[in-house]
Amino acid sequence: MEQEKKVMLSGIQPSGGLHLGNYLGAIRNWSARAEAFDCYYFMADMHTITVRQNPADLRRNTLEQLAQYIACGLDPEKNTLFIQSHVPEQACLGWVLNCYTMFGELSRMTQFKDKSAKNAENINGGLFTYPALMAADILAYQPDYVPVGEDQKQHVELTRNVAQRFNNLYGETFKIPEPYIPKTGARVMGLSAPENKMSKSAPEGCVFLLEKPEDIMRKFKRAVTDCDTQRCVRYDPANKPGVSNLMSIYAAVTGKDYEAIEREFDGKGYGVFKPAVGEAVVDLLRPIREEAQRLLADKAYLEAVYRAGGEKASRTAWKTLRKVYKKVGFVAR
Ligand code: TRP
Repeated sequence: MEQEKKVMLSGIQPSGGLHLGNYLGAIRNWSARAEAFDCYYFMADMHTITVRQNPADLRRNTLEQLAQYIACGLDPEKNTLFIQSHVPEQACLGWVLNCYTMFGELSRMTQFKDKSAKNAENINGGLFTYPALMAADILAYQPDYVPVGEDQKQHVELTRNVAQRFNNLYGETFKIPEPYIPKTGARVMGLSAPENKMSKSAPEGCVFLLEKPEDIMRKFKRAVTDCDTQRCVRYDPANKPGVSNLMSIYAAVTGKDYEAIEREFDGKGYGVFKPAVGEAVVDLLRPIREEAQRLLADKAYLEAVYRAGGEKASRTAWKTLRKVYKKVGFVAR
């Protein structure tokens, strides 16, 4: 009998455009997994409203994110691509898991602490219980692996604890998932503040996948480097974080190693190096942007993709939810 494929699942919030960090650190690696794994990727729109959103922007960002997923190589025939709010089973499981997640656990989440510091005027219940919904996002699909960045590891750990707690009380219900943090995952730092991860909250230092080439070039030319008077291109993350970040982007895009890059720019200075990195990124992103724009003009196609994905996701999530409802003692519908 054919061995069942292992399951993988991940989501990104449609709270703005996808950026180079999302692509090099995550999405680029996703497409290659479609053969070996049963993959689910979703737009985490329900998580996005934990911070106030403009409704029209959220709708547009959600569809743009789907178009970008596909343009980045995620084939909807081979991956289940869906919108979180289209799978009500996930939110229902979220409620149940809320009742098995402790106040103390939620209070320790660093993302909650960060986001409530940044949104002091809107520290709502959803922001606090977000990790219980995230646990449901994950556990509904019984995945083996959850590819996430370092910053989401704590949420996946909490998910494992909640799943284990539930299993201990009611018997084997959830598979315990592993966080999957890619070894080669280029960690892309911001161009304007290379000590922080590239993020849409610092847009001057963030390169969006749908951005125009001239804007990308401008951001690279203005990238913060360092005041090393020799202005030499050398990999030294502790003393030259800006240059090292640009080198790691260049390496991730071109496949060259740091030594080769040092040789290539030997004696040339930052004035040559920065635009060269910009051009490499522009070339990398051009086909993605063009394909995403083509897809965005074809709303019927995008709709067919998220409908089919949502239906499949719903069927899978319902199998888990039905089991959970039975275990906690709900009368079957
Ligand atoms: N919390 C994640 C983030 O902020 C997004 C997310 C929501 C997610 N649900 C998930 C990621 C489930 C992986 C699995 O980036």
